[in-house]
Amino acid sequence: MASKTPQGKLGVLIPGLGAVSTTFIAGVDAIINGQSAPIGSLTQMGTIRLGKRTENRSPKIKDFAQLANLEDLVFGAWDIFEDNGFQAACKARVLTPQDLEQARPALEKVKPMKAVFDQDFVKNLDGSHKKSAENKMVLAEMLMDDIKSFRETNKTTRNVMVWCASTEIYIEASDVHSTLEKFEAGLVNNDSQIAPSMIYAYAALKSGVPFFNGAPNLTVDIPAIIELADQTGLPIAGKDFKTGQTLIKTILAPGLKSRMLGVEGWFSTNILGNRDGEVLDDPSSFKTKEVSKKGALDFILQPDTYPELYKDLYHKVRINYYPPRGDAKEGWDNIDIFGWMGYKMQIKVDFLCRDSILAAPIVLDLVLFADLALRHEKKGIQEWLSFYFKSPMVAPELYPEHDIFIQLTKLKNTLRWMMGEELITHLGNEYYDG
Ligand SMILES: NC(=O)c1ccc[n+]([C@@H]2O[C@H](COP(=O)([O-])OP(=O)(O)OC[C@H]3O[C@@H](n4cnc5c(N)ncnc54)[C@H](O)[C@@H]3O)[C@@H](O)[C@H]2O)c1
Repeated sequence: MASKTPQGKLGVLIPGLGAVSTTFIAGVDAIINGQSAPIGSLTQMGTIRLGKRTENRSPKIKDFAQLANLEDLVFGAWDIFEDNGFQAACKARVLTPQDLEQARPALEKVKPMKAVFDQDFVKNLDGSHKKSAENKMVLAEMLMDDIKSFRETNKTTRNVMVWCASTEIYIEASDVHSTLEKFEAGLVNNDSQIAPSMIYAYAALKSGVPFFNGAPNLTVDIPAIIELADQTGLPIAGKDFKTGQTLIKTILAPGLKSRMLGVEGWFSTNILGNRDGEVLDDPSSFKTKEVSKKGALDFILQPDTYPELYKDLYHKVRINYYPPRGDAKEGWDNIDIFGWMGYKMQIKVDFLCRDSILAAPIVLDLVLFADLALRHEKKGIQEWLSFYFKSPMVAPELYPEHDIFIQLTKLKNTLRWMMGEELITHLGNEYYDG
């Protein structure tokens, strides 16, 4: 039986030492050193109301749920480039030279291990810092060895893995993904439908490490890996960090629906110039992202339940690679809505966002919640963490919840339940739609 309180070091294993992961590591360091507040992190800044409103009990989530201390995090990573965390962060061009210099010691410590990579899955990228082996099972075993030595060197008591590597091409679940037995045979036979991210996930779960997926790749969203998570009693979650345009979409759409306003069209386009943008410039990687981004509106607006309002909704998503912008993405939304007597209106959103600045606190929260789920022996898909994902994983018989406000209610109620507190439904004298 695992200890429910965090003791000792928590290993944070990250495939992909790029813009998101280095911004995350630098930010954790800045918070520990008192140079920055943990802005954007629900675990660090958020509170949770307990009991009746008259009791005035609203502790911080991190204290209530007994989350690991940031000082106890130790980072490990894999990448196809040899650059250490500091060099990678400089190339990512997210942080100012001053912030980079402050985080330099923490970032320099992270020297990536050789990656499991296959260019068939990320067409616009290649590097030389890669493992090679006769088959995918051996590659998985090499990753397991990496995890073992990371654990021994850093004396970690628990470890979690969060995928922050590039978006892989779009694939659909097929026969080799249907059972663990077929998947393992596929690893040995070098099945072309087994993506590198799946090999990391397999190695993580085999090593007792939860796996959370920050990209839109299929990865753990296949029966074989769900079966492995069940067998090993470990948490999995995904997919695709909810940042930028989709974040705004899942904030705005529930509001429009709550007032029963119609939506005829939603056109989203954006420009970005970082490496992620370069990878997404390949149509097969873009397709993975597009599918992940497009699901949200349908599930929030429920066109089948409200056909007069949403059945004709035209939803289009575009991503344009535009190098001058680097990580400073700009996203435009044009929303054609209609109201009383069918009169048309428009909403325009121009979001000058910073992708990695929005993603980094999500990585932190997911790391801490993956560890919490591990310590509480919550196995399988962690649907209560849908709040953080563009395309939340759910059990096959359920539909994903995309409404950010319902997602937050679910998350907090799960925490209350895990910690033995009464659930809050706001029934009685407050509006509740959860
Ligand atoms: N930034 C955001 O807001 C955001 C939101 C949602 C999802 N994501 C996803 O997070 C991921 C990371 O984004 P980023 O902006 O940091 O990208 P990035 O290109 O800066 O970093 C990704 C890193 O992964 C490495 N990599 C690629 N394949 C690998 C493999 N098989 N093993 C190990 N390393 C590998 C690349 O070399 C690169 O250094 C992307 O998949 C992106 O789609 C980002």
